[in-house]
Amino acid sequence: MDKKHVLVTGGAGYIGSHTVLELLQTGYEVVVLDTLSNSSIESLKNVCKLTQSRVYFYQGDLADAEILDAIFRNHPIWAVIHFAALKSAPESVARPLDYYRVNVDGSVSLLEAMTRHHVHRLVFSSTAAVYGKPDPNTTLIDESHPTRPENPYGRSKRMVETIIEDTTRAVRPLGSVVLRYFNPVGAHESGLIGEDPKGRPGNLMPLLLQVMTQSRKHLEITGTDWPTPDGSGMRDFIHVVDLAKGHVKALEHADRLCMANGGFDTLNMGTGAGTTVLQMIRCMESLTNSTIPYVKGPRRVGDVAAVVADPHRAQKILKWKATRGLEMMCADAWRFRQMNPEGYVSTINMPSADSLTSPRASIPGNYVFVSESLTPTEGSPLVRRAVSLKANRPPNEPVKTTNRIILSGMSGEPPFLLQDRDQFSHPRGVPIALTPVSTSLQ
Ligand SMILES: NC(=O)c1ccc[n+]([C@@H]2O[C@H](COP(=O)([O-])OP(=O)(O)OC[C@H]3O[C@@H](n4cnc5c(N)ncnc54)[C@H](O)[C@@H]3O)[C@@H](O)[C@H]2O)c1
Repeated sequence: MDKKHVLVTGGAGYIGSHTVLELLQTGYEVVVLDTLSNSSIESLKNVCKLTQSRVYFYQGDLADAEILDAIFRNHPIWAVIHFAALKSAPESVARPLDYYRVNVDGSVSLLEAMTRHHVHRLVFSSTAAVYGKPDPNTTLIDESHPTRPENPYGRSKRMVETIIEDTTRAVRPLGSVVLRYFNPVGAHESGLIGEDPKGRPGNLMPLLLQVMTQSRKHLEITGTDWPTPDGSGMRDFIHVVDLAKGHVKALEHADRLCMANGGFDTLNMGTGAGTTVLQMIRCMESLTNSTIPYVKGPRRVGDVAAVVADPHRAQKILKWKATRGLEMMCADAWRFRQMNPEGYVSTINMPSADSLTSPRASIPGNYVFVSESLTPTEGSPLVRRAVSLKANRPPNEPVKTTNRIILSGMSGEPPFLLQDRDQFSHPRGVPIALTPVSTSLQ
């Protein structure tokens, strides 16, 4: 039987790469769309190594209808798992419009493309941040808890949940599952994939690891007078591999909803157990036989004592349970950091959009350049159309448009596998070097 193809947006990122690995191990074909704005292609190369499988990779933006159309035309996409987003709550306060543009506009663009191409299964990455400050008497947060997100990040995710719910009602038989993650930590046991955020990390574990590797002087514990057993904040940490496995189950749930003429569901992804910041520090210390320096800081504005999931619905509906405990979360995160002290080190030189006018891009490896109907141009019979795509750019920079060439077979043909890079010509005679808009990683 032919394998089912799953499009994973943001699949090169932290949770995305672990999920791609689980999907491949379950027997799916995987296509990834990612800007690489907060990730590295190395994560997917390592996933391919670990699974001895192939991933189709498209470097591009969710908001780009043209690249989405190319993907849906070139692969028989059965379902979509949608991770791609900006995810820092404090950053979202300073740059709300970027968060609404990437998270909300990007998701609308994806839903439009799914509708155009009749793709009817969706799993969406949401967050416990949609709950905001839990009600004072709540110990475990279930899915019926009121949603009162406290920052633009949480609000953007809540908006997308609503947009998906409305679309599910309108577009039959769309089956959509929203997963609200609590605090994903840890890494794959191989130490080959893990969390490697670009820029200043916003989460506890990467900060802790920075202190342990001496790239940060100490950890600041924000609030030590909370009503928790040791006064530090309490969260529900979930091992990223458990979470990734949950996505494979959620995909099956989206399929069941689709088969029942469509439906929408929201599930909490957590363990149901709270761990304090100090407990996490102690666990790391005892694992590594070290002392982790920390200072006691004031509570952060808007912070809360404890946020712990009630994961019973997910456990029942998905027949899934997080099984990896705190020690494994710490040990796996630490192994990834030790094996990758500088984070992912790229062995592929992905040319930037700016390099497009250089005569020849040096890109080792085998690449599949994919697109739809192409118009013949000089230089090669392979090149049939040059399209204009928005260049990747940091969210705070103005939009820049550049020309890229996307190559493909005639419609209906499989994408070309280019073993050798060539120089092609823009229809107007401007020299253009190839950019790995799509890459087959093996
Ligand atoms: N990590 C957490 O603590 C956490 C908690 C709750 C929810 N989430 C959600 O889970 C998802 C994945 O989080 P993660 O921790 O893996 O983050 P990540 O930053 O590692 O992964 C997100 C990926 O999306 C890509 N991306 C960003 N904007 C894009 C765009 N416009 N088009 C295409 N790709 C784009 C990034 O390059 C990155 O590879 C996000 O939606 C996040 O909001 C994460």
